[in-house]
Amino acid sequence: MTTKILIIGACGQIGTELTKKLRSIYGADNVIASDIRKLNIDVVNDGIFEVVNALDFNQIEHLVEQYNITDVYLMAALLSATAEKNPAFAWDLNMNSLFHVLNLAKAGKIKKIFWPSSIAVFGPTTPRYNTPQYTIMEPSTVYGISKQSGERWCEYYHTIYGVDIRSIRYPGLISWSTEPGGGTTDYAVDIYHKALEKGTFECFLSEETALPMMYMDDAIRATVEIMQAPTERIKIRSSYNLGGVSFTPKEVAQSIQKHIPDFTITYKPDFRQKIADSWPASIDDSCANQDWNWKHEFDLDSMTLEMLENLKR
Ligand code: SER
Repeated sequence: MTTKILIIGACGQIGTELTKKLRSIYGADNVIASDIRKLNIDVVNDGIFEVVNALDFNQIEHLVEQYNITDVYLMAALLSATAEKNPAFAWDLNMNSLFHVLNLAKAGKIKKIFWPSSIAVFGPTTPRYNTPQYTIMEPSTVYGISKQSGERWCEYYHTIYGVDIRSIRYPGLISWSTEPGGGTTDYAVDIYHKALEKGTFECFLSEETALPMMYMDDAIRATVEIMQAPTERIKIRSSYNLGGVSFTPKEVAQSIQKHIPDFTITYKPDFRQKIADSWPASIDDSCANQDWNWKHEFDLDSMTLEMLENLKR
């Protein structure tokens, strides 16, 4: 049976790069990109694109039937900072879009789901360093609460209805080709843009705020690998911890200064500091490593080099 993919939220930070990658693997005709609006030219023009509202079950079901979809990647969500400004809508979007897709799988209309979770599922009472897969989870943000609840539902639908759901707790993601949208880790993308444009950057987190981060290439590879792994290898059906690198704003600034010695950084923490303080500083991803062989490639300096070289072009 041919894999036919529907990506919901294909124009977002992850969706844009994921769409490109999945089209290259499965063929442009087998990947249907969708989003609420035509927000990215490449995603819209390089293959099949449909406008869809992730909250509209009928629209999604219609697309699934029209294209004989087997796998859905649900990338639509409100991220941490934006969600704090609009809690009710964040809860609605993040939860109900997930239920729509889970229920399509439960009804046997699709075979496999990818749904992203986040380091935001952890909270201030979680051990901060090398945070284990199984630990105290008391998220204090709307985003984190929605991801934690989503994880519980994913596991429930797998256990009770046999739904093949696969999920990763993404750390902050860093990419040169797409802009992040409303997260607490967004500074780590912006800093590279500002370093090249202005030679200076004002950071909305304090200098010693360590967070788990990952270069987008690694994140996309993890997504493809977990979806391609044989089903018996996926032992965790809530969501897998995924570690990449862990760094502070000061450390990323120092990494940039190796290439742009005059680069300066100042700190002006805002409401996002509190969100960052509630999250882990680093992640233990040994379960992903054991179960489906996960290993990240990029460290801070190799990522800095890629970011600066690509953004310069
Ligand atoms: N990058 C996300 C955020 O900052 C975390 O999942 O909201």
